[in-house]
Amino acid sequence: MSWVMADTTLLSRSGSRSQPCPTVLVADGLAGEGLALLHEQAEVVVANGLTEQQLIARIPRFDALIVRSQARVTAKVLAAGQRLRIVGRAGTGVDNIDLAEATRRGVIVVNAATANTHAAVEHTLALILSLARHVPAAHAAVRQGCWERGEFVGVELRGKMLGIIGLGRIGSLVARRAQAFEMTVLAHDPFVSEDRARQVGVQLSGLEDLLRRADFVSVHAPLTSSTAGLLDADKLALLKPTARLINCARGGIVDEHALAAALKAGRLAGAAVDVFETEPPRCSPLLTVPNVVFTPHLGASTQEAQRGVALDVAEQTLAALRGEYVAGAVNAPFILPGALSLLQPYLDLAERLGSFLRQVIGGRIDEMEVALSGLLAEHDSAPVTAAALKGLIDPITDERVNIVNARHVARNRGLRVRERKESTAKSNYANLIELRVHSGEVTRLVAGTIISDVPRIVGIDDFDIDVHPFGHLLVTTHRDRPGVIGRVGTLLGAGDINISRMQVGRHVPRGESIMVMNVDEPVLPELLAELAALSPMQSVIPVSL
Ligand code: NAD
Ligand code: MLT
Repeated sequence: MSWVMADTTLLSRSGSRSQPCPTVLVADGLAGEGLALLHEQAEVVVANGLTEQQLIARIPRFDALIVRSQARVTAKVLAAGQRLRIVGRAGTGVDNIDLAEATRRGVIVVNAATANTHAAVEHTLALILSLARHVPAAHAAVRQGCWERGEFVGVELRGKMLGIIGLGRIGSLVARRAQAFEMTVLAHDPFVSEDRARQVGVQLSGLEDLLRRADFVSVHAPLTSSTAGLLDADKLALLKPTARLINCARGGIVDEHALAAALKAGRLAGAAVDVFETEPPRCSPLLTVPNVVFTPHLGASTQEAQRGVALDVAEQTLAALRGEYVAGAVNAPFILPGALSLLQPYLDLAERLGSFLRQVIGGRIDEMEVALSGLLAEHDSAPVTAAALKGLIDPITDERVNIVNARHVARNRGLRVRERKESTAKSNYANLIELRVHSGEVTRLVAGTIISDVPRIVGIDDFDIDVHPFGHLLVTTHRDRPGVIGRVGTLLGAGDINISRMQVGRHVPRGESIMVMNVDEPVLPELLAELAALSPMQSVIPVSL
């Protein structure tokens, strides 16, 4: 079962063109290695520099869109992308993608979060050193035939204080590099623990304290609603006149007008800017002020980083198109890489259990409860719950449902979701998923596990059973009487329906029973009616998984 992309024809692993081939629009520069990988398994169109209108016009026929930081994936682009299943971001920041809208529409967004970390770290250091030693201005002067050594006297990093805003992947490594220059490092990051700060060898600080004390301030936070305009005129006024500010994270975090005014007035010694509010920055007030070093968003621009992000995003895009879980999904429940191999088969199982119950209930569903036991209970239950919800609600709504938006769709439909965990293994199974669904007064339960890598249904309501949840099933409830199974088999045989497996569960002889048959063909309504008319029969329900 493909559960990120259930409604897409799957591409064979060999990339066979006999099946419909997924279509991928690459709307920003992507390194050749990534393009080559995409070409092996998809029809790829490269179109850089599209305006929003042009992107809207082209997107309808594509299954996937890959961008860097230039193309903006707005709500309108997502609305026009009727086939769009995945947006791949060849880099870290996803601020150019309307994540909330993508999530609402069930479009999975993946990024390549780590492949350009070292490039951004090294570029930050390049900017700090350039700024400290006036490298760009001195270079330009020499080119013009000047030899004014006195004009370009710099400052040393040794013994200075670096203030880092955002102690994540990049911020932490910048801290380490700065320590090699014998700088002391302060960091402001409201989401980082003292323990983590100690590991990196930095002291955590409030933002204002950091701005007052640091000689160099380097920004490494993402652009979000809480960081937009974070360094405004009031905050910049706290900096020492000898301080230097570096922004190699995102335009919009530093107020460009306020920074330009501070530099013009000499209230700040210098700034290095790799990223701008609008790129390219044709009207930025920074372009005309002194003591600045600019680069055109080059933080991730190394051969190594571009190869890395291109391969990473291409691999994840193709995996998502095949319906596999992708670890770099930023709008889906997160699964730690080590946990993925355990969880992946249970995601498939959970979706089958959800689908089974929906077909058995056949009507309104008020509440779904997922209970995990065994090793499974040690992991975040969100992915399993999302997969079960997908199975439960996918075919009963026009909306595309997948791991990305399953909870959102359930909430909108008024379907309550509960989760429970029991760390001890239940019954004989090392791991068990129990799915209970309430519909008015009716409650139905199905339990499943993985045995020898294969999903199994091991319980239905309070019956123990062992069912292979694949293909066409026939689920009956009846009173256990001699000859029932024979008569069912005879009727199916007469209807040319082949039974491949049959399981019966009961509590006591001649009591309530359940029978689940795997059949090779779907059972038509007339034959179902004949089966239902057999005297001890209480219900006959076809299920297709
Ligand atoms: P990350 O997620 O590992 O780290 C970001 C850190 O910022 C986190 O620790 C987070 O807690 C912190 N943060 C969030 N809100 C904050 C706030 N209000 N104040 C202080 N800290 C806050 O990300 P990363 O890989 O280190 O990348 C950081 C950013 O760098 C990215 O979001 C991206 O925009 C930018 N980036 C730029 C380039 C470039 O080419 N210039 C390249 C790569 C990344
Ligand atoms: C990023 O967020 O990864 C950077 O902006 C790099 C880029 O895409 O240019």
